[in-house]
Order: sequence, then C-alpha cells, then structure tokens
Amino acid sequence: MSAAVCILAAGKGKRMMSNLPKVLHRIAGKPLVGHVMNAAAKVSASKPVMVIGHGGEQLRAAYHDADLQWVEQREQLGTGHAVAQALPWLPADELVLILYGDVPLLSAATLQRLLDAAVPSGFALLTVTLPDPAGYGRIVRDARGEITRIVEHKDASSDELRITEINTGIMAVNGAFLHRWLPMLGNDNAQGEYYLTDCVAAAVAEGIRVAGVFAASEAEVAGVNNRAQLAELERTLQRQLAAALMEAGVTLLDPARLDVRGDVVCGQDTVIDVNVVLSGRVRIGADVSIGPNCVLSDCEIADGTRIFANSIIEGATIGAGARIGPFARIRPETELGADVHIGNFVEVKKSRLEAGSKANHLAYIGDSEIGRNVNVGAGTITCNYDGAFKHKTIIEDDVFIGSDTQLVAPVRVGRGSTIAAGTTVTEDVEADRLVISRVRQKTISGWQRPRKPKKD
Ligand code: UD1
Ligand code: CA
Repeated sequence: MSAAVCILAAGKGKRMMSNLPKVLHRIAGKPLVGHVMNAAAKVSASKPVMVIGHGGEQLRAAYHDADLQWVEQREQLGTGHAVAQALPWLPADELVLILYGDVPLLSAATLQRLLDAAVPSGFALLTVTLPDPAGYGRIVRDARGEITRIVEHKDASSDELRITEINTGIMAVNGAFLHRWLPMLGNDNAQGEYYLTDCVAAAVAEGIRVAGVFAASEAEVAGVNNRAQLAELERTLQRQLAAALMEAGVTLLDPARLDVRGDVVCGQDTVIDVNVVLSGRVRIGADVSIGPNCVLSDCEIADGTRIFANSIIEGATIGAGARIGPFARIRPETELGADVHIGNFVEVKKSRLEAGSKANHLAYIGDSEIGRNVNVGAGTITCNYDGAFKHKTIIEDDVFIGSDTQLVAPVRVGRGSTIAAGTTVTEDVEADRLVISRVRQKTISGWQRPRKPKKD
C-alpha cells in the first residue's frame, strides 16, 4: 500500500530563541525538516503535505522549488487541529504517515516497520521507552498489552505518570479514520488543545486495534526544542555518518573530528585526518589522503590524490595522483588533471591545469588554461582582472614560467616557451621562445644608505 505523508511544522519553537523557524535550523548542513522529507521520500512517493504556521513564509521561501502541498495552520490549537487543517489534501483510502518537522533522525527502516504494522487495522503508533518520560504523552495498555489510549503528561494520574513508554507522536493512520475522527475531536483537557492522540481512544472505541511499534533508538525519535538539543542531534548524526564512512573502508583518524555536511561518497583506503569538513556533494576516490584542517565542498577528488593540511577546495575536480597544499586554495570551476601539484599559498580559480603541471609556491592562477607539464614558478600572478572584466591566460604544454612573473591577460604563451624570472608578459608568445622583460641590473659602488642621527 502506498502512503500519504503529513509533516507538522507549525510550532513556534520559542526555546530556540531564534528568528529562524525551528525546522529550518540545520544539522549536518541540512534543515531539520529536510531530513524528515528525505526519510519520508524513501518510503512514500506521494507529495508531502506540510502544515506550517509560525515562520511559514520563511519555510515556503526555503523550499519554494520542492514538490510540497503547503497548508497553513493559523493558530496552533494542538496536533489534532494541525492535521485537521491538512484533511482536504489527505486521501481517504490510504495510510497517512504523520511526521514532525523537528524530529530529524528517524530512519526510513523504522518508518517502513510502522507502515507495515499499520496495514492490518489501519493504525500504528511509534513508541519508545524513556528513563525520564516527563512531559510526554504516555502509552496506556490493557492487561493483554494492547494499546487503549494515550494520556498527555498534564492530564495523567499519578499512576499513569509512572508509565515509561511514551508516544513519539509519529503514527500511520488510515486517512478514512482521520476524516472521521478529527472533526469530532474536543479540547476539554488540561491544555485546551485538540489532541491528535485522542484518535487512539476513538479507534479502540470502534474496536480498531492500534498496533505499537518500538523505535530503534531514543535518538531517532528525539525532537529539537532548543540549541543544546540541536547540537546533541548534530553529534549523533555525525557519529552515524562517520560510522558509515568507516564501514565503507575509510580510515578516520578521529571519527569525532570529522564533519559531514552533505552527500559524501568516499573510496576504500582513503585516510582522513582530524578537523576536516566535507560539505555539499563530495566524491572522493580510493587511496586519497586528506590532511588535518581541510575544507572540501562540492568537489571530486580522484584516486591516490594527497591533500595536505589546511587546504580549501571548493567546486573543483581534481585528477588522480595530484598533490594539493598544505595551505592551498582551490576555488570553483577549477579542473586539475592527473599528477598536478598545487603547493602552499597557491590560489587557483576557474582554471584548468592539465596532467603533470605544477605551481608549487605562492601563486595566483585565475581564468587560465594551462597545458601539460607546465612549471609555474613561485610568485607568478595571472593579472586576469582589469577592474571591469576578467580575461583569460593560456599557457601551452611544456612551458616554464620563471618566478615572479606577471601574465597580463588576455595573453597566450606558446608551447615549450620559457619566461624568465621577473618578467611581465603583456604580449602573446610564440612556441619555443625565451621572453625576458627584466630591467637591466645596475650596480652603484660607494652607495650610502640614509641614516637616522644617533640619540644619546
Ligand atoms: C505531542 C503529543 C505527545 C507526544 C509528544 C512527542 C499530542 C497531543 N501530544 O506533544 O503525546 O509525547 O508530541 O513529542 O499530540 N504542532 C503543530 N501545530 C500545533 C501543535 C503542534 O504543528 O497546533 C507541531 C509542533 O510544531 C511540533 C509537534 O507538532 O513539531 C508536536 O507539538 P508539541 O507541542 O511539541 O508536542 P505536544 O503536543 O506537547
Ligand atoms: Ca616583478
């Protein structure tokens, strides 16, 4: 059976102390609600119905291009009221999975177990046992162990408060039941709210069995109410992401000091040192080594490449066997071929360096096309910007660029040419030439440097 999805995200999240709606706060680089949508998409192909209220405009803006059915809950009158607002978009002949925008770590496997458990009767609840259940709705079961109702903490008797099995809020319910029961919910309770949880008693009254499914862990059903919980779930998720990389054959020198903020795939026998941040779409090959304090975002690194400490790589493709850093900065739209070396304090932007080329020290390479086996000397600068426009530098195969060269773009240096140290290249150079624009050295003897008068 396919299932519809309803995500509740109307709450204010007061304790976040934030102008950003709670569900837009991020863990592992992605908004909480984005994690929920991802898990839902793994078990359901239907367009999620998103119930919004506080910060609704910000949410719509953040997900303006996502395929979602937005529903506004103007006043937050309780979870039952929230789902009731979504009723016009909820099917009457399918299971509806009710999820929460602030419960981000739910696994698709658990959701699938919940859906499977809901099939026979049309109703299943996800529960968990907590050492300290304070604040949560308690699961009340009869002598045979069947669920009979949920009692909210504020409405519970002292006996009920001792129950440690709690309602996670997540459930799978036949849409027909929601259409039948939600309009009948009352708010005669301690909080004056319309409780979604009252559906359980309604089901039992009609002889419909409510199946209970235990969550796989406390963490997967943990919600975020404040920044401390946000940080806790960030750590939990990072531990999971690090574990997944290690299972795939990656060595992490300290799994607690890697941060994955995106979609990362990494080949076997790659070694990642401490304090590395990987964000966006990152593809790392096998036998790669990444030194400490590197930040890699939206990039592809081929097999056997070594990235040394403190290098920043963003929006680039790097070939096999390359050596990058320490202290290199590779900026977007850069493509480095196999065995390219980019050394310390070298910045490369929107440039292509073909196989075997090297820029080992202190250089700026921007808007350039550099062929194979080119040596770019220390202190070389492509002068790519005239204050209004960017211009291209083209350096053909086997060129040797001496140290402290300026290449004033647009300019082309032909194959095999040599640029002498200290040259400013302003005109195109044909193949196999030597170019030198250095001012001739003068030597003056007996020269006296200015001196400050001595103080006593
Ligand atoms: C609810 C459950 C409780 C459960 C707990 C788990 C009810 C009546 N109680 O508690 O049994 O143990 O979740 O955390 O359902 N929301 C809306 N609109 C509203 C009210 C809430 O969208 O009018 C959303 C909130 O944004 C939040 C979620 O629903 O994401 C849960 O609301 P919250 O107030 O935190 O939970 P409780 O109602 O206290
Ligand atoms: Ca110079």
